[in-house]
This record gives sequence, C-alpha cells and structure tokens, in this order.
Amino acid sequence: MPVSSAALDLESQTPCPEPSPTSSVHHAIASEVRNGLTSTPKTLTPWLFYDIDGSYLFEQITELPEYYLTRTERGLFATHADQIIARAAESSGSDPAPMLTLIELGAGTATKTGILLAAAVRHQSSVVYQPVDVSESALAAATENIRSNIPGVTVRCQVADYTSEPLPLNRLPHTRTLALYIGSSIGNFSPDDARDVLRNLRAQLLPGDKLLLGTDLAPGISKSVSMLEAAYDDRSGVTAAFNRNVLARINRDLGANFRPECFAHRAIWNAAESRIEMHLVASHAQTVTIPANCAGPQLTVRFREGESIHTENSYKFTCARVEALLESAGFAMAETWQDAAELFAVNLATAI
Ligand code: AVJ
Repeated sequence: MPVSSAALDLESQTPCPEPSPTSSVHHAIASEVRNGLTSTPKTLTPWLFYDIDGSYLFEQITELPEYYLTRTERGLFATHADQIIARAAESSGSDPAPMLTLIELGAGTATKTGILLAAAVRHQSSVVYQPVDVSESALAAATENIRSNIPGVTVRCQVADYTSEPLPLNRLPHTRTLALYIGSSIGNFSPDDARDVLRNLRAQLLPGDKLLLGTDLAPGISKSVSMLEAAYDDRSGVTAAFNRNVLARINRDLGANFRPECFAHRAIWNAAESRIEMHLVASHAQTVTIPANCAGPQLTVRFREGESIHTENSYKFTCARVEALLESAGFAMAETWQDAAELFAVNLATAI
C-alpha cells in the first residue's frame, strides 16, 4: 500500500503528525476492498484492521488472558534484553564495537520496545530509535511513550508502509542498524511474501547489520491447538469485535452499508498451512453496496448464508522454518530465545 511518508527532523522533536487520511491511503483502502470482495473466496487484507478503533482493539487483545503472545515476548525481552543488545552490538573481527541504531517495522505503540531501548541506553548511553508504522495514531502514542519514559532515546517516527516503501534508514558512520520486527507480525504474510518482506529489508541493510524477529510458535508439547484457537477467539469477544471492526471501517471510510452484527467471528487452525485463520461468516444471505470511489464504480457484493470473508492468516513457526525463512532472505540465525513452555521465540539474525 503506498502511503505518504512523514519523516521527522531529528533535532525538532515535534510530535508525529495528527491522523489525517491522505488520498493515497484512501485509494489503497478502496482498491484492496474492491479486489478482496470480488475474489473467490472473498478476502480482506489484515492491515485494514488498524484504523483508530482497530488499533485500540488490538491493544486490548494484547492484554487478554488468552492472548499469550504479547506477554510471552515481553517476558523474553525482560529476561534477555541486555544479552540481546550485547549480541546485536558484538564487534566483528578486529573492528571496534559499533553503535546501534534501532529501527522498528510496524512499531504500533511500541510498548514492548521500551525494554530493548532501555537496554540499548544502558549499553551505549544514547540511541536513535526509528519506529515505522502505517497507523499514525499508534505512532503518535509510541513517540510520546518512549520520549517521556526513556531518557537517552532520540525518536524519529515515520508513517510508512514498510512492505512497499524504502525504510527511512539514515545511517551515521560507524553505526550498525538493528531492525526490530517483533510481535510475530511476520506471521500475517504467506511464506513467499514473508521472504519478500525480509528480502526488501535485507536489501536496505549492510552486511553485519542485525534483525530481531519475533515469531509465534506452532503447536507443540505444551502448546495445544485449543490454546492457539482461544488466543484468536477470546471469551470476552474482543477479538470478534476487532475482526468485525474491519467492516465498520469500510463503512466509515468508503460509505459502505455492511451490518457487522450479521457476520460471525471464526478462528480456525489450518494444520496443513500451519496458520490460524480468521473469518467473518455471513449469518444469512445479504447484499452490501459500496458506492463508487477513486478505485472504481459502485460495487454490489452478494453473500450466501454461511459464506465467509477470510480476513487474516497468522502463521505459526518451528525453529527450522524460521531459520530457513531467514536464510532465504539473506540472514544467518545468530541466537534464539524461547520461553520455557515454547510458546514464542525471539530470533537474532545477521545480514550476510
Ligand atoms: C499483530 C499479526 C501479530 O496474528 O496474532 C491478534 C494480529 N489477530 N488477534 C496476530 C491478531 C487477531 C496479530 N499480529
């Protein structure tokens, strides 16, 4: 999705720009919705979840008892942050140890990142941090959170889509980039797309730069399929509201007339593809109209009873899969940290 870039001046320390839907964002939404709802089976791309309401609902998901991902990864950072930073900053050969600059893809509100930034400040006293995200509201919260809580961090935020735009890498001499791609966000991509996203990232790094990749793990000895499904279909219905919000968003942004309450939330483990799928299932036959917009003429979308819109894939990894993915994108695995129950992994890799 092409989104206008809004980089900030390093010196000026002004907050991120206020949310303002730009025409390129509007066009990207309109064409994604048109493509997805005219495909068979119907699909919607997961980045559509993250408008202001969806970003807020996702924050609530991260605090649910069933959603173990965020707190498990945070626990790994809390235990290993100093070691992660030390390994990322390790000197190669006889060169002096480099200063790290941290860039984060899909930073969101950067709540977990603070733990790594605090460790980076302990290690090298000051650090430049560049969060990149498509959600301006999330990025504004991230910037405020880091600036007020972690002295020693210079934040340069950038509203951008890291899947289609070059990263705002402003490399200073004798520094090394540590790219953070945490939260298992990589899991939203098919294996081929995940490789391409990491290859694009790799193309903008130098040999020796580092990537810290968070990956949710496939079911195993202490992780059951039902635990995985519960994480995507919680008792309090927050994930259902998050899923349905994509329809409300399409109503708000494109003037469509979806009735979100007429679609049921489903989370299904697809073992063959090693992914959790989220769907919205039409509770009865219905028709939805999307008025003409910049991406095309008025669209009438018909649903049969029980017909689903596939709204998300969340791939789950084995260590071998992560290693192969990294290798296919030009990285070599350096070290992996996992929790005792083997729910989640944090992987440090080197650009080769
Ligand atoms: C942000 C993509 C990591 O797949 O777990 C949470 C999104 N979807 N609940 C995930 C999500 C439903 C989340 N990621």
